[in-house]
Amino acid sequence: MCGIIGATGQGCVTEILLEGLARLEYRGYDSAGVALQADGDLWRARAATGTRSLEDLRKIVDGAPDAGGALTGIGHTRWATHGHPTEENAHPIMDCSGRVAVVHNGIIENWRELTARLASDGHVRTSDTDTEVLVHLVEEELATGASLVEAVRATLREVSGTFALAVVCAGEPGTIVAARRVSPLVIGLADGDPEGEVAGEALLASDIPALLGRTRRLWALEDDQVVELRPGSMRVTTLAGKEVEPSVLQVNWDLEAAEKGGHPDFMGKEIHEQPRALSDTLLGRLLPDGTFALDELRISDEDLSRVDKVFIVACGSSYHAGLVAKYAIEHWARLPTEIDIASEFRYRDPVLDSRTLVIGVSQSGETIDTLQAMREARQWSAKVLVISNVVDSSMAREADGVLYTRAGPEVGVASTKTHLAQIVALEVLALHLAQLHGRMPPADARMLFGDLEGLPDLVELALAREKDVAEIACRFLGTRDFFFLGRHVGYPVALEGALKLKEIAYLRAEGYPAGELKHGPIALIEPGAVVVGVATRTRLWEKMMGNVAEVRSRGATVVLVANDGDSDTADQADEVLWVPSTDPLLAPVIDVVPLQLFAYHLARAHGHDVDRPRNLAKTVTVE
Ligand code: G6P
Repeated sequence: MCGIIGATGQGCVTEILLEGLARLEYRGYDSAGVALQADGDLWRARAATGTRSLEDLRKIVDGAPDAGGALTGIGHTRWATHGHPTEENAHPIMDCSGRVAVVHNGIIENWRELTARLASDGHVRTSDTDTEVLVHLVEEELATGASLVEAVRATLREVSGTFALAVVCAGEPGTIVAARRVSPLVIGLADGDPEGEVAGEALLASDIPALLGRTRRLWALEDDQVVELRPGSMRVTTLAGKEVEPSVLQVNWDLEAAEKGGHPDFMGKEIHEQPRALSDTLLGRLLPDGTFALDELRISDEDLSRVDKVFIVACGSSYHAGLVAKYAIEHWARLPTEIDIASEFRYRDPVLDSRTLVIGVSQSGETIDTLQAMREARQWSAKVLVISNVVDSSMAREADGVLYTRAGPEVGVASTKTHLAQIVALEVLALHLAQLHGRMPPADARMLFGDLEGLPDLVELALAREKDVAEIACRFLGTRDFFFLGRHVGYPVALEGALKLKEIAYLRAEGYPAGELKHGPIALIEPGAVVVGVATRTRLWEKMMGNVAEVRSRGATVVLVANDGDSDTADQADEVLWVPSTDPLLAPVIDVVPLQLFAYHLARAHGHDVDRPRNLAKTVTVE
């Protein structure tokens, strides 16, 4: 998830790019860079200094005499996915001749095959990015005499994956060619002077905030459309070269609303980004032979197939994702799996050796409790793997291996999209372990991966019921205590639903395995108690419904998460949160969505700041 911007015209293009990048920093700041066309040449500047990247880029650009005179340029702010957040991997990425530059947001899925082919054709790779194949492919096409737009079209016909990209080349001054597939791209035209002597500017960006204030004439590019921008004009075509009318974009947002994508807060925006976070995390993970491409893993298949025991360590929502993974690893890979709250792990003398795999789960990759637990594990020579959303985080650097979720930056303190992405990353890992341990033939893995790939659409369906969930949530404005119950993988979902309510709505919420209720907590159930149950059709549905009957008969008000059309479940509920169904082990990804929305709307109805809940921090670096 990166930000991109481009501008061509008579105005101060460099300033448009730098200002636009500043407005896109919420999309990531691992590095920042620009490529500027000046006097038939291409000039590039990049900085990869984390939060200082943009500031440092500005210093380089200010110190370059030619930069100010540029009439055309593209810029990028990066959230690393493939390759470390270094200067070499910062965009724009250039071809072998230094005459073509590209900025890209998204993931090129078939970059491995293309990289191998390009290397055999003599192209020299200068970065570890998936993006780089794009620029060499364009270079090859240009060498055959193609124009820039033809070269980009031909390139895009060869790549699979997602992209919003912009390309400039020294040979076509004043032109930017841009295109998109899945990743958004917005085009803007700014008027020239009234006499028509100055042509005005043509602009592009991955997000609306970057263009706000520059123009109100905006268009959204559709999938597989290509746009040629020249000062004051644009021409949009399909990949086959057929001219099309782009759709006009009506924007009435101010800058703050635009950064939040029109949502009232980042948490709302991030909840709605979950389908995308899932598909990005899964993109390119399954190879055609039914095995998995987990490039960053760094632990050999041989070592992983020697593993005879798994420990998972994590905190907060990451712990709940780990708990789902325990069920998946034990069921699919038949490996004994323990899970610990990270802050407890190293104080309990865990029994580990070189055949133990310890999986740290942490969106930030910085949580000190999880980091220390991983350090403890390494002392016992265990293999340590981390699931992280931040490339090169402390955990990613210290662990033997890493598997990245690709949820993009998460601003809301209470995790949402990173939590869902963690579950699917862990489930891919569970399938990988199952294969290496001879427990799952490629055909079965392929089928389950197909189910995983179906999750983004199902989550989208669950999100479409937001209004109903909000209405139900608001009926509980007077309630101070909630019980969340679930069984099997519904149990971690119940824990996560309760945690969300505590974190942002400041309401007492107990998450319990439903079967444990009768061993104590049921004493608290009396008329008026509110019980939220995860009652989708997983393995223990009947037993779960037995537990629901126990609380109903004691007068509790029951809210159930139920699969669409399941009237048997609905009959036992006062309120129903409907969700689509999937494979039972994958269901937590969908079932947790209405519980996030429930907490979110209840918190907002109470007037709380959901992005910055009291007493909490996004990254906790104290024990
Ligand atoms: C904090 C956040 C939680 C998060 C937990 C673990 O407490 O408020 O939302 O789940 O840290 O963070 P991590 O970065 O390790 O996943």
